[in-house]
Amino acid sequence: MGLGMSLARLLPNGSTVLLTGDLGAGKTTLVRGVARGLHINELVQSPTFNIMKLYLKGDRALIHIDAYRLKDIEQDIGLDEYIGYEQGLTFIEWPEYIENLLPKEVMNIEIHHVDDDVRDIEITYHDEKVLEELRK
Ligand SMILES: Nc1ncnc2c1ncn2[C@@H]1O[C@H](COP(=O)(O)OP(=O)(O)OP(=O)(O)O)[C@@H](O)[C@H]1O
Ligand SMILES: [Mg+2]
Repeated sequence: MGLGMSLARLLPNGSTVLLTGDLGAGKTTLVRGVARGLHINELVQSPTFNIMKLYLKGDRALIHIDAYRLKDIEQDIGLDEYIGYEQGLTFIEWPEYIENLLPKEVMNIEIHHVDDDVRDIEITYHDEKVLEELRK
């Protein structure tokens, strides 16, 4: 939750964040933190069954994509219009399944499930200042 809230504060509009990690690693939970940080009151649930959810009622837009069900699907379903959405932030679970739609400049967050309540998180991003803030 804390990391998500920091990201809500630090990332510029148009940012795309790729979340990788095993089933149950905590990807959706992180997006919940972002929603809280953006003052979005709706409950963020795993969008696995609807692939994409767009939240417009917060400080900025939040786009939450879960590409899990797009594994092995080649067809274009128009998701690219929302990735890197200029008025907000885009978070993508299972980005490996929509590799051809991903922008070049992204933040990568790898979540490793270490133990029941322990997560190890690795972040790759081009802006060192943001990384520094996140370490605080
Ligand atoms: N940082 C954390 N610390 C402790 N528990 C966590 C953390 N993040 C998530 N969890 C717990 O792990 C479980 C799975 O989390 P979540 O649904 O966010 O995973 P996910 O990576 O989105 O999984 P999926 O790949 O199925 O979408 C939940 O029960 C959640 O409470
Ligand atoms: Mg999830």
